[in-house]
Amino acid sequence: MTAQPAIASDALRSAMACFATGVVVVTAAAPDGPVGMAVNSFVSVSLEPPLVMFCAANTSTTWPAISAAGHFCANVLSADQEELARQFARKGDRFAGVVHRSGVTGAPVLRAVHAHLECEIVDTHEAGDHTLVIGRVLDLGTDHQALPLLFYRSSYRLF
Ligand SMILES: Cc1cc2nc3c(=O)[nH]c(=O)nc-3n(C[C@H](O)[C@H](O)[C@H](O)COP(=O)(O)O)c2cc1C
Repeated sequence: MTAQPAIASDALRSAMACFATGVVVVTAAAPDGPVGMAVNSFVSVSLEPPLVMFCAANTSTTWPAISAAGHFCANVLSADQEELARQFARKGDRFAGVVHRSGVTGAPVLRAVHAHLECEIVDTHEAGDHTLVIGRVLDLGTDHQALPLLFYRSSYRLF
């Protein structure tokens, strides 16, 4: 095998920052109350069956609770929900002041999101310093009137 050049983490982060994404708050119902975290690693995987995926950092303290719940709701944030994105990336009570309802899985569906996809976790794969989490979509909803919140080059952006 030929030696591969080392890729510095900063260089990889900087290259991937050129890939514009949406922002999703992944939520779940845990025994001690709702949990959630902001992610931008959310992608569509398959239509038949309906599968989506996000990546959870191995350092995440929220991922073990989502994993134990066995389900999650991917809340796709709207353009005016930047503060929610920030709240769900900080430590502290992430649900303080957040209006939500329980979905079919029990996972919190946040109010006024652009779309939500409720999933059961069907597979996980260890991949470097993250875990790939694959969910089968059980229920969803879309607000076609909304616009998305974007994340590009380390900043929140509008469409
Ligand atoms: C825009 C944005 C995208 C993020 N994407 C991810 C992600 O894809 N996966 C992840 O594990 N954490 C991601 N994070 C970090 C989490 O939101 C959170 O800060 C981190 O998981 C630490 O919190 P925890 O210990 O409660 O999990 C992202 C944060 C921001 C602001």
